[in-house]
Amino acid sequence: MSGGGRRRLGAAWRRRRPLRTRLALAVTAAVAFVAVVVCAAAFFVVRSALYQQLDLSLTQSARLAAQREPGAAPGTLAGECRFLAAPACAEVVPADPAKDPRTPGLLPVAPAAREVAAGRRAPYYTHITVSGHPARMLTTDYARGRALQVALRADTVEDGIEEAAWWLVLTAAAGVLLAAVLGYWVSRTGLAPVTRLTATAERIAATRDPRHRIELPPPGREDEITRLAGSFNTMLGELEQSVTAQRRLVADASHELRTPLTALRTNAELLARADRLTPEQRERASAALGRQLREVTGLVNDLIELARDEEPRPLVEQVRLGPLVEHCAEVARAHWPAVPVRVRVEAPAEAAVVPGVPARLSRLLGNLLDNAAKFSPPGLPVEVELTVPSGGPEVTVRDHGRGIAPQDLPYVFDRFYRAGAARALPGSGLGLAMARQIARAHGAELVAEPAPGGGALFRLTF
Ligand SMILES: Nc1ncnc2c1ncn2[C@@H]1O[C@H](COP(=O)(O)OP(=O)(O)OP(=O)(O)O)[C@@H](O)[C@H]1O
Ligand SMILES: [Mg+2]
Repeated sequence: MSGGGRRRLGAAWRRRRPLRTRLALAVTAAVAFVAVVVCAAAFFVVRSALYQQLDLSLTQSARLAAQREPGAAPGTLAGECRFLAAPACAEVVPADPAKDPRTPGLLPVAPAAREVAAGRRAPYYTHITVSGHPARMLTTDYARGRALQVALRADTVEDGIEEAAWWLVLTAAAGVLLAAVLGYWVSRTGLAPVTRLTATAERIAATRDPRHRIELPPPGREDEITRLAGSFNTMLGELEQSVTAQRRLVADASHELRTPLTALRTNAELLARADRLTPEQRERASAALGRQLREVTGLVNDLIELARDEEPRPLVEQVRLGPLVEHCAEVARAHWPAVPVRVRVEAPAEAAVVPGVPARLSRLLGNLLDNAAKFSPPGLPVEVELTVPSGGPEVTVRDHGRGIAPQDLPYVFDRFYRAGAARALPGSGLGLAMARQIARAHGAELVAEPAPGGGALFRLTF
């Protein structure tokens, strides 16, 4: 198979198997591999140790035979290797096959043995078969032009090795089994939190209810998965809050839209029977209809603005607050000719610069100025101040009207909240909610407080 094909197959395998199976298989494979390798290594160690003992005996037998019969002629020296308990059998092999009297000898003679006899090769050990029995043979140099071959039956050693092999195979098999059990256990316990996490996520996806939470273990027993679950819970909290906020906004909006829409419909129905109205009545109804339409349009626009969350990144720029305040004051003067708007900028131009969206900041200031003009009697001034006290720049808007009653102060930034005294004036109670939202999106704080000497004071701190 090509490398790409194998990779594709691997990917498909990973996709098909659940993580738990994959982890179990990986752990099993790793532990099983170690068990098999250790058993194989043990087998080779045991085998070489057993043969080493046999080889030692062969060396001793060869030395004894050489001492007993130094310089013997080619031929059988000792023993027949026929019995298990028999001492080593020994033969003298000449370098020249023509001078070999044995036809055939007891021990097999390899060409290598002739080379040892001739002194061209180092002594060596071999496995041989003597009369149908396994044996081990040492071929070593002896006298000039002759080699000595000594053999010992290896049955016991072979039996020992076979037995050891069986035991090791059994051990390896048990190891693999244990590995499988371990793998299963590790994957089960290791992935239990992940399983819980997945179940919760699936439940949320199925019910679309972000109130679910993942159970966390008692503190002090946290691990990576618990931290993940914690982050997941935090995310769910945020999601729940956002969903609740959206639902509340929609509920509030539909509630607030009902009244103006009903009025709109009444006027529209009235105008549909225009033939039965006097010209003045028709005039009044159509004027009211136009006004109500503008109100509803404004309300809907405000709602759309409120529903928007963050400032879109690309629109953010360095906004110089001085010119922005001047511009907003200019707009307010045009809108409320009876109200003198006074601006005092007490900040170095370079200090009063903030990152933001100019249109949105104008909207914020516009809403504050609008309120100040709307809720204070004509003729009394509205004062706007830009300062840089310490840290960030600060903009204040104050008027000399009735001010905000202490019991209303905590609620003026709520959507659709309008103090009792304000209900007679046009408005929907969205202006300050929007202002605060814009302020927060710009990392600023907007607060209301009673102004010293009467009136309301709004403070915007960046
Ligand atoms: N400068 C102020 N002086 C007195 N009361 C104020 C002032 N500004 C706001 N308020 C009170 O806070 C309420 C909420 O203000 P907000 O701007 O959110 O709504 P609104 O001006 O009534 O309507 P909208 O701004 O949507 O046209 C007002 O209804 C009013 O009771
Ligand atoms: Mg307002």
